[in-house]
Amino acid sequence: MRTNVILASLFTVAVATAAGCVGGFDDPPVDQPPVGTDSAGKKLFDSTVKQFAIAACAGCHQGAPSTSNAFFGENPTVTAYTALTNDRLIVGDFVVAQAKILTKGPHAGQTGFTTDQASKVTAWLTQEATDRMVDQNQPTQPPVNQPATTSTIAMQKFAGCMATSLTDWTAAPPAYKIAQTNSAQGVCVVCHNGGAGGAYFNNTNNYETMFERTQEQLFFTGMFSTVAVAGTPTTYKVIANETKLCAKGKERTDGTGTHPTYNCNNNGQITALKAFVDKINAKLALGACGTPGFRPPTL
Ligand code: HEC
Ligand code: HEC
Repeated sequence: MRTNVILASLFTVAVATAAGCVGGFDDPPVDQPPVGTDSAGKKLFDSTVKQFAIAACAGCHQGAPSTSNAFFGENPTVTAYTALTNDRLIVGDFVVAQAKILTKGPHAGQTGFTTDQASKVTAWLTQEATDRMVDQNQPTQPPVNQPATTSTIAMQKFAGCMATSLTDWTAAPPAYKIAQTNSAQGVCVVCHNGGAGGAYFNNTNNYETMFERTQEQLFFTGMFSTVAVAGTPTTYKVIANETKLCAKGKERTDGTGTHPTYNCNNNGQITALKAFVDKINAKLALGACGTPGFRPPTL
């Protein structure tokens, strides 16, 4: 989704080679033009969206960095652009049709954007997608027996297999254990119940809703990533996105962001998630899985 299939594959190979292990489908592609400060998207936001969006929304959606629903940041006039674009849910990972800032609509007694405002937000996000080279099309479903020759196919196969593996998801230690982790600002589900940032950590229905929504492409990449597997042709397999899940908890210490601090594996959370990934990959290797494909996005 972040980029087209070919770029995603090339990038994963490049990263796998350069860094040894971390391959990230959702990491920015290597040749991505600069975004932020002087990018076309940033300029469009400043000139056509910023003012009305702050007026219409920021009253309820500002606050300390990375707190619940504070996606305009602490001081919207200064922080709006960075805070909005840092939240994968709000911008739909730059797939415009699934950007929550547009799909949310009227709520909390306010009417949402006017038609004219919504079209300006759409134009802005479309420019961001262009700047970031994000393909706007949902990937088509691969045939059942197709080898995972791209990162996206690997994820589609995994998501399809996951859909029939609820018992593996809930088996102790449960794969969703990461969602129960304590951070300096509360348990993950407090902020992530609606998918904040693109991580759908939700404890309703005994974590079954989380199980389902995680199969959507946007949320899938909050939990999982891929690596290239040696061989010809190169294929890919899904891994737990340990890199992202752990780095988020250290942003304040590292100075790389403002996310609440937490220890990603103090209670074996990542170990549990990896065990789940191993089970699904083993089923895939046996051909014991159903139709590949992401769950359609819930808008
Ligand atoms: C009067 C206060 C208020 C205003 C104004 C407001 N919101 Fe909200 N918004 C809320 C509340 C409360 C929630 C949490 C409950 C819910 O999801 O409905 C919320 C939730 C959201 C969410 C869901 C976030 C998530 O993580 O699930 C989005 C997206 C959103 N608002 C967008 C907007 C946009 C865009 C505007 C401006 C057009 C806006 N809001 C204006 C109060 C407000
Ligand atoms: C106080 C609210 C809050 C709490 C508590 C919280 N988060 Fe977050 N998280 C956010 C917000 C807001 C974002 C998006 C902006 C950002 O990255 O800072 C986010 C983003 C993330 C992301 C990035 C998702 C992606 O796919 O890009 C991960 C991973 C994450 N959080 C993990 C966790 C985990 C694990 C916990 C529990 C230990 C947790 N968060 C607790 C608010 C919170």
